[in-house]
Amino acid sequence: MMACGRVIAVAALMMAAMGSMAAEFSVVGDAAPQALAGPGDAARGRALVAARESANCVLCHAVPGVRFAGDLGPPLAGVASRLSPGQLRLRVADIARVNPASAMPSYYRTDGLDRVAPTYAGQPILTAQEVEDVVAYLGTLQ
Ligand code: HEC
Repeated sequence: MMACGRVIAVAALMMAAMGSMAAEFSVVGDAAPQALAGPGDAARGRALVAARESANCVLCHAVPGVRFAGDLGPPLAGVASRLSPGQLRLRVADIARVNPASAMPSYYRTDGLDRVAPTYAGQPILTAQEVEDVVAYLGTLQ
């Protein structure tokens, strides 16, 4: 029992460490200028943005080339001419730091979230690499 308890405690610690790692990135003004992972892949980012079962950006944003989309958020066409890569990154990673009242989910945050399904507790919706992929795709929307 003791050993078992210790294993669980270690696992919990590791998960806590991973959770706080996921949530940590530097914010300068309204931007996150540093990449969270290696260079993003715009094609993978485009697939993520359009995927209805995961990121589901099209639930709220019109995206060029996607037929059915919601309009709760602004259309993403031309977003790269309005926002720098760092500004895009912060909005994808944790828009609550730009607008605490935003309806948009914080895709790269694990703390302070409510209504999280148990399967996703302690995990960001997008991985660091996926955030970079999405930012790379948004960067093509001049
Ligand atoms: C539940 C609705 C919702 C979802 C899902 C959503 N967003 Fe948003 N998003 C918004 C709203 C609303 C805004 C307007 C800004 C605000 O709320 O402060 C916004 C703003 C943005 C902005 C800033 C646009 C600008 O012109 O200032 C970007 C970039 C963005 N979203 C990208 C994404 C991406 C990429 C995804 C998917 C990974 C996504 N959003 C998913 C609702 C959503």
